[in-house]
Amino acid sequence: MSLPHVLQFFCVAVALAQQPTKDWCKDGIKVPSFSEDDGNVSVEFRVAQAPLFSTNPHIGTKLRWLNLYHTALVVVQHLPGLAPKNWTIEFDSVTNVLGAVLPSINGSTLSWNNDARYCVTEGILWGEAHWSQMLDTVLRLNASSARRIFTDFIPAVNDTAHQSKPLYQLWRVETRGVETSPLVKDITCGDGVNWILDFSSRVLLTPPLFELKYTSIVVYADRISKIPVNGKDWPDLIQYFQGMSEVTGGKEAVWHRLLEFLHLMPVHYVYDSNAKAYYKVEGNHFPWLESKYHAVPLEGPPKLGNHTNEILFV
Ligand SMILES: *[C@@H]1O[C@H](CO)[C@@H](O)[C@H](O)[C@H]1NC(C)=O
Ligand SMILES: *[C@@H]1O[C@H](CO)[C@@H](O)[C@H](O)[C@H]1NC(C)=O
Ligand SMILES: *[C@@H]1O[C@H](CO)[C@@H](O)[C@H](O)[C@H]1NC(C)=O
Ligand SMILES: *[C@@H]1O[C@H](CO)[C@@H](O)[C@H](O)[C@H]1NC(C)=O
Ligand SMILES: *[C@@H]1O[C@H](CO)[C@@H](O)[C@H](O)[C@H]1NC(C)=O
Ligand SMILES: *[C@@H]1O[C@H](CO)[C@@H](O)[C@H](O)[C@H]1NC(C)=O
Repeated sequence: MSLPHVLQFFCVAVALAQQPTKDWCKDGIKVPSFSEDDGNVSVEFRVAQAPLFSTNPHIGTKLRWLNLYHTALVVVQHLPGLAPKNWTIEFDSVTNVLGAVLPSINGSTLSWNNDARYCVTEGILWGEAHWSQMLDTVLRLNASSARRIFTDFIPAVNDTAHQSKPLYQLWRVETRGVETSPLVKDITCGDGVNWILDFSSRVLLTPPLFELKYTSIVVYADRISKIPVNGKDWPDLIQYFQGMSEVTGGKEAVWHRLLEFLHLMPVHYVYDSNAKAYYKVEGNHFPWLESKYHAVPLEGPPKLGNHTNEILFV
């Protein structure tokens, strides 16, 4: 990524800050109304990808240039003699992304609002044409197996308490050359898709015929060290997050905020929402952040605590 890319990142962050907090999943349903298919394989799952925020007319498909894609699943049931039925599964932060990435600050207390949950809606969200990067069929199941994704798997992930895992984690922190074992793992929309395909593979014994790829936003670091809350580095950390909030959502002129942003680089601190831990970042060099569209192995969700259904870990 070059300086223009960094500037685009900055512009995206500013544009995001202007977005109203979304009305999370107001038309959500629990389980699609699949028609009975007598065990015939009638339901297909398609991985759907589109440039991030392309529903926003000010952003359009520009983020294709940055490799930034939103990933979802489209579910279609075909039965002879019936009109096709379809649904969309998204996994996302329940607040706007910025709300999940920046804390609200009160004195020396930081609070986060970053639950990541599934939303299932009727129809193909935004229409088929929206998913311009990909709309590929990766899995076929009969209706009774397909239903288990919504009755056995999704509730186990989705019904955890507020502020409990899985929590949205935008940044992935990696050391260059050791991409497969990140220092901080990201959890974004693509992971929700990954976990469903993994469930199908392990529990429904139907692996997808497909290598899943999605976007990660990577902060490269040589190492990270844990910062205790209210320890000696805490005031500096608060100031850093305060600076980030002003840069993205502040009232100053944009050019002023851009200079402030450059001043805050390299990345000093990250919060790992799933570990609920703060880290100091060492060895983060220009261009500081990179977005990559990479292949990911199938895996299940992080240990979710006591709400977890055993079936996740068979
Ligand atoms: C998951 O949880 C969210 C937040 O509580 C809710 O809005 C959504 O409808 C749930 N999704 C499913 C598929 O149950
Ligand atoms: C299932 O497939 C069989 C054989 O193709 C067909 O005769 C039957 O009508 C199908 N059932 C449904 C509900 O589609
Ligand atoms: C649906 O498919 C699964 C395998 O994926 C199979 O075990 C099950 O018997 C099938 N359901 C019916 C009703 O045939
Ligand atoms: C999705 O469902 C609608 C009806 O709900 C149907 O008109 C449309 O053809 C379906 N699209 C696909 C790709 O199956
Ligand atoms: C900030 O913290 C103070 C003291 O802990 C509390 O009285 C106040 O209500 C808090 N403000 C907000 C907006 O949460
Ligand atoms: C969660 O489970 C562990 C052991 O499995 C138990 O010790 C702990 O008390 C449980 N916590 C809650 C909140 O139920």
